[in-house]
Amino acid sequence: MSDARPIGVFDSGVGGLTVLRELHRQLPGEELVYIADLLHFPYGPRSLAEVRAYALRIISHLVGFDTKLVVIGCNTATAAALNAAREVFDVPIVGVIAPGAQAAVETTSNSRVAVISTLGTHESQEYVHALREANPGVAVLSKPAPDLVRIVEDGMADTPRADASLQAVLEEILEWGADTLVLGCTHYPLLKPALRRVVGDKLSIVDSAQTTAAKVLRVLKVNRLESGTVVAGRLRLLVTAQPQQFLSVARRLFGDDLEAPSITDPWSDVTTAPVAS
Ligand code: DGL
Repeated sequence: MSDARPIGVFDSGVGGLTVLRELHRQLPGEELVYIADLLHFPYGPRSLAEVRAYALRIISHLVGFDTKLVVIGCNTATAAALNAAREVFDVPIVGVIAPGAQAAVETTSNSRVAVISTLGTHESQEYVHALREANPGVAVLSKPAPDLVRIVEDGMADTPRADASLQAVLEEILEWGADTLVLGCTHYPLLKPALRRVVGDKLSIVDSAQTTAAKVLRVLKVNRLESGTVVAGRLRLLVTAQPQQFLSVARRLFGDDLEAPSITDPWSDVTTAPVAS
């Protein structure tokens, strides 16, 4: 049996594209629809209740595109809305926190894991719970790093501004003796070149993209939802507000042939023609 319906993915901005890229790599035959909620970017400083309301509306909009599974490609929205979404929608919904925690416990050798994330994710304590569920013997240091999100969204991930901001947040983590750093925000994998400059090989860097895509693959298999084709699936990008740096960051990840995003309004269920950014 095969199922050609698309998989939906969303985030507040470019961050979830790091998950989208891995989904496209591990599941090349699947069609993917991505929504960047630029209208409400950033999610990190907002209350979890507010982020939950946005996330539920966006998932409902994605379900309107006949998606067979939805990936919450955002840690803040996963912390705020994963459980609520599973109560409301019938499609399988996959978040990024449990897969990120799994990757971390498989990586650490000294059982000291640090997590950097948005304020919302940090305050939810969801990474602490997920890491301790995966391995109760792991010690966790969680630190918010909100400035990094804006730096990445502005297309400044590989600049001295990024290095300085990382330096400030990682000092305590290195002193604490972590051997593994979880990038608990899907924007942060775009900082990997800067991270390498700042920490060298003192920390193993872990993110959720690979393990989330592997989880999606398992869920599709178990539920017999795979597309059953190897022909490259379409990547469709949607944004909730006029994009600024969005397309240039997206094309850096997916190549210049990537189609321009369309503006979509999940609150009135209207999608317009593609726009350039
Ligand atoms: N990429 C998101 C995350 O993983 C959200 C960043 C933000 O909008 O503050 O949390």
